[in-house]
Amino acid sequence: MIQSFGNNKVKTAVFISGKGSNLKSLIKFSKLKISPISINLIISNNKNAKGLLFGNIYNIKKKIFNYKTSSSAEKKILKFLKLNKINLICLAGFMKVLSKDFVKNFNGKILNIHPSLLPKFKGLNTHERVLKNNEKYSGCTVHFVNAKLDSGKIILQKRVKISKTETVKTLKKKILMEEHKLYPRAILRIFSL
Ligand code: GRF
Repeated sequence: MIQSFGNNKVKTAVFISGKGSNLKSLIKFSKLKISPISINLIISNNKNAKGLLFGNIYNIKKKIFNYKTSSSAEKKILKFLKLNKINLICLAGFMKVLSKDFVKNFNGKILNIHPSLLPKFKGLNTHERVLKNNEKYSGCTVHFVNAKLDSGKIILQKRVKISKTETVKTLKKKILMEEHKLYPRAILRIFSL
């Protein structure tokens, strides 16, 4: 599916909108010898995204795109990705939905992480809805991105048990810890296919 060539790691862009804890874990992973990817770009729609700091810490190029009109933002992003020879996109808390056209341009080369056991609980406010629904388990999913929100082919999932005293905050924290392990594992998986 996606191939890495010899010692050359696959040039990857991570898209973020917020804290960037998944970005951090991906950067750490990318520095390992076993990692098939290198993180060459951080893209954000939000100039105040805390995760952008990791660009400074790890010396990774970052670029913010104004999303006033998403079609023109996407065009500019695509151009920038091509210019930087990016071959893989990892969405990590990116709060904008990519258009069909954009996805077509990177067909099979865009991954996302979502904090639920997809296909359950697509979309926003996941943990709130999971708890309201009295679920016994939740978790996280890494999947390929297609034109429909949180609906592409699933690569890996991790299940966590919901405790009786669980709150949105505790569940979020618990799942985020699993996300940090799952995303690198999912990347290893797709490169070994
Ligand atoms: C994660 O829960 C991820 O699953 C979701 O957005 C959150 C991003 O967190 N898509 P962070 O910015 O990586 O800390």
